[in-house]
Amino acid sequence: MKILLLGKNGQVGWELQRSLAPLGELVAPGRDDAGLCGDLTNLEGLARTVQAVRPDVIVNAAAHTAVDRAESEPELAHTLNALAPGVLAQEAAKVGAWLVHYSTDYVFDGSGNRPWAETDTPAPLSVYGRSKLEGERLIQAACQQHLIFRTSWVYAARGGNFAKTMLRLAQERERLTVINDQFGAPTGAELIADITAHALRQCLRQPHDAGLYHLAAGGETTWHGYATQVLALARLADSAINIKATEMSPVPTSAFPTAARRPLNSRLQTQLLQQVFGLTPPHWRLGVARMLAEADVRVTTTL
Ligand SMILES: NC(=O)c1ccc[n+]([C@@H]2O[C@H](COP(=O)([O-])OP(=O)(O)OC[C@H]3O[C@@H](n4cnc5c(N)ncnc54)[C@H](OP(=O)(O)O)[C@@H]3O)[C@@H](O)[C@H]2O)c1
Repeated sequence: MKILLLGKNGQVGWELQRSLAPLGELVAPGRDDAGLCGDLTNLEGLARTVQAVRPDVIVNAAAHTAVDRAESEPELAHTLNALAPGVLAQEAAKVGAWLVHYSTDYVFDGSGNRPWAETDTPAPLSVYGRSKLEGERLIQAACQQHLIFRTSWVYAARGGNFAKTMLRLAQERERLTVINDQFGAPTGAELIADITAHALRQCLRQPHDAGLYHLAAGGETTWHGYATQVLALARLADSAINIKATEMSPVPTSAFPTAARRPLNSRLQTQLLQQVFGLTPPHWRLGVARMLAEADVRVTTTL
């Protein structure tokens, strides 16, 4: 089996390189590899690449993910998050390939406090959210063999992330202020990549399981709850980290004005994923503890 992976160096893309490897031969072009095109702004190049590789599966982990910047570059966000996935879907249909793609809870308006189901009506608040929603719709219209995973609050051990930022700030400042009115579940890129591989494998045998699924870690918290847990783990670990912060104040979203509006309710209901694929996303605290351990904060993972 041949898998064409786009966005190999992003948080999710990096983990997909690991989780997809046992399923077949991975072809993962960079943006400007000679011969193959992995640049999502080059729609013709993308189409040519699919025709040249003739993959059994295309996995698209590339996207315009700079949510605030998207407000001032809507055309680029539209090309990357809507048009490019649409082209991939058309080309996938032509060569009989599956298309795996990622979307976001930002397709919802964040109202209420109930976890969003796949059947709930989207109403994005931002350019990013609108572009991701259009990407979903173009895929659904062009390629029946698709898996779209809407996820939220993605972090990875590799590179920077919210937890590492909080640890750094806690070493520098005595008082931290963290948003306490946005609710969601921090979801590891590792978990997304592993669930992708399991679900894809099942779909290849049972094509009727194609569709759109919500994928997030178990439980829920706020950014304040997330930061509190990170500092508690660092303290428990008795690590070399010298935490100076003695106070972490909860503040509303309005305390940190941003170009893009963010949903207050980012909770995603994952029952459908659990029922169809027999997979249970573990609690977010487990993934965060593991990520900190990998980042050498030396925390216990047996929570
Ligand atoms: N991050 C989150 O909190 C979050 C939440 C919900 C859903 N999602 C969705 O999950 C998926 C994966 O997100 P992620 O967090 O792994 O994103 P990420 O770490 O920002 O990675 C995005 C990747 O897209 C690549 N990219 C950007 N412009 C490109 C272009 N013109 N051509 C080719 N590649 C390009 C980037 O390459 P460079 O590294 O070279 O820039 C990067 O490797 C995305 O679909 C995203 O919308 C993310």
